[in-house]
Amino acid sequence: SYSYQFIVIDTEPPVITFNPKLSVEEGNELDLLNGVSATDDSGEEISVTVEGEYNFTNPGEYNLTYVAKDSSGNEKKEAFVLEVTKKVVVVNRDSYVAPNSSFTTSNGHSGVVKNGITYIDGVLIVNKTYSIPSSYGSGLTSETQAAFNKMEAAFNQEKEESGIWIWIASGYRSYWDQKSIYNNYVSRDGQANADTYSARPGHSEHQTGLAFDLNSIDDSFTNSPQGIWVRDNCYRFGLILRYPKGKEDITGYMHESWHLRYVGVELATKLYNNGDWITLEEYYGIDSKYS
Ligand code: DAL
Ligand code: ZN
Repeated sequence: SYSYQFIVIDTEPPVITFNPKLSVEEGNELDLLNGVSATDDSGEEISVTVEGEYNFTNPGEYNLTYVAKDSSGNEKKEAFVLEVTKKVVVVNRDSYVAPNSSFTTSNGHSGVVKNGITYIDGVLIVNKTYSIPSSYGSGLTSETQAAFNKMEAAFNQEKEESGIWIWIASGYRSYWDQKSIYNNYVSRDGQANADTYSARPGHSEHQTGLAFDLNSIDDSFTNSPQGIWVRDNCYRFGLILRYPKGKEDITGYMHESWHLRYVGVELATKLYNNGDWITLEEYYGIDSKYS
């Protein structure tokens, strides 16, 4: 009888399954052997190694090689590329703060930008051109609240009708409150329309704590007894009609009879101008336009 001994001579190299192009952002690491496998006709499990130099913290393209070797010494090499991409630096506009600077307005007033806040002749300015940082503000300022309280007391004394009141319907609004209000208007009316009546986050006077809206916050306030009285008397308490009628192209906003801004009695009296309201933009010689 014969006995046969079969000697299998394995001359076939392993087959490597791999991805020829890997990509990772600078500073992140990638397991280059993840998902890589090698099989051989002998049925044995074959391990794969990586040949070549690479550096996850240095952006660039690295030409590397997978190497798989079976027990019979058959070797297979496959080239692949590891791309380390540059880290994308996202500039978060919500937290951008302009460097300190100073400037002179078109009619000679002195402006300074301090910690991202613009003051002209010491008066904080917020409009479409001038913004405040997202972290700014924490409520109505005590002067603003006191001005409203005095105005309310005078209104209650001097009003001709009984049973009518004034109240703050919207006072301080945080950057994030404004962001959500503005975004809602944009989805309802489109950005171009929203920009005529709602400030973008960082551009609302409500975030300063120096402004508030009265009563209905709509056009029905304008010719109401409260609206007429407020228009003619708010300056006595240091408050201005911030968005007067006919000044839409100057303030950047439609007329808002309900939106008052605290500036102090002296400036408010000048801006009242015997009933022919002057805007902060005209007085200081500044724009209100998004860049
Ligand atoms: N309605 C004013 C412009 C604001 O949103 O602050
Ligand atoms: Zn308002």
